[in-house]
Amino acid sequence: MIDNAHEQTTRLVLGGTGKTGRRIVERLQARGVPVRVGTPSGTPPFDWTDEATWPAALDGVGSVYVTYYPDLAVPGAAEAVGTFADLAVARGVRRLVLLSGRGEAGALAGEQALRKSGADWTIVRSAFMAQNFSESFFLEPLRAGEVAFPADQDLTEPFIDADDIADVAVAALTEDGHVGQLYEVTGPRLLGWAQAVAEIATAAGRPIRYVPVSLEEYSSMLTENQVPADYVKMLTDVFTEVLDGHNAWLGDGVQRALGRPPRDFADYARDTAATGVWDA
Ligand SMILES: NC(=O)c1ccc[n+]([C@@H]2O[C@H](COP(=O)([O-])OP(=O)(O)OC[C@H]3O[C@@H](n4cnc5c(N)ncnc54)[C@H](OP(=O)(O)O)[C@@H]3O)[C@@H](O)[C@H]2O)c1
Repeated sequence: MIDNAHEQTTRLVLGGTGKTGRRIVERLQARGVPVRVGTPSGTPPFDWTDEATWPAALDGVGSVYVTYYPDLAVPGAAEAVGTFADLAVARGVRRLVLLSGRGEAGALAGEQALRKSGADWTIVRSAFMAQNFSESFFLEPLRAGEVAFPADQDLTEPFIDADDIADVAVAALTEDGHVGQLYEVTGPRLLGWAQAVAEIATAAGRPIRYVPVSLEEYSSMLTENQVPADYVKMLTDVFTEVLDGHNAWLGDGVQRALGRPPRDFADYARDTAATGVWDA
C-alpha cells in the first residue's frame, strides 16, 4: 500500500463527471479516499481554459488523474498539460496519472510534457472506449437504428471498458508499484466496427445497421446535424489519426496493472443493454 502521509491526501480527478472520471470518483469514494471532482462546475471549479482555476483545485492534493478536455489531439493540449503538471508539482503533488491515446502525435506530446514535470507518473494509453457507444456520440445513432462512421469494414479495434480503465487508474492513484509504468489498456478481443454494432444489436434485441462512410461524408453529416465547426474539425482530425489501423493490436495493460484480464465487449454490451439505454 501507499505510505500513510500520501494515503490521507486528496485525489483530484480531472473530468470527474466523464466516462472514466465518474467511475474513478465512485471507486475512490467507496474506499473512503478523499476526492475532488475537477470540472468547470466542480467546487472549486477546474477549467482547462482558465489557468486561474488551477491553484485552488490543487490545494491539499497529493495525486491527480489527468484527463484533458476535449482531447489531447487539439492544438495547445500538450502545453496545457505540461503547464498544469509543473504547477501541480510546485504545489506539492507527487503523483500524476495520465489518460492518453495510443501513440498519436498529440497524445505522445502530452505524455512527454507530463513526464518532464518530475512527478511520479503513470500513463494509461487507452484504446477506443466501449462507453462511446452508450455515454457519448454513438448513443443517438444506435437508438435511431443506424450508425454511420468513417471506419472501414476490415478495420478492427480492441474496445476497452471504461470500468477497466477506472480500475487501473484507481490502482495507480492508491497503490505503490505503478509509478513509471506505461499501461497499454485494451479489451481482450479485436472487433470490426460492424461486428461491435452487431453485438450491441443482439444484446439490445433490435436491428441496428452499421454504415461505413468516408471522412468527408462523416464530416458533412455532423455539420448537417448542427455540430459546431470546431468540434467537427476536432473529431475529423482525431478519427483521421485513430482510424488508420495502428490501433489494431491487443495491449496487456489491464493484466499487468490489475493481475486480471480485461472485460470482453460482449459483457459490456449485455450489461449496458439491460439498462435500456439502447432501446428505440
Ligand atoms: N473516448 C475514448 O475512447 C478515448 C480513448 C483514449 C483517450 N481518450 C482521452 O480521454 C479524454 C476524455 O476523457 P473521458 O472520455 O473520460 O471524458 P468525457 O467522458 O469526454 O468527459 C469530459 C469531462 O471533461 C469535463 N470538462 C468539460 N469541459 C472542461 C473544461 N473546459 N475543463 C476541464 N474539464 C472539462 C467534463 O465536465 P462536465 O461534465 O462538467 O461537462 C467531463 O467531466 C480525452 O483527453 C481523450 O483524448 C479518450
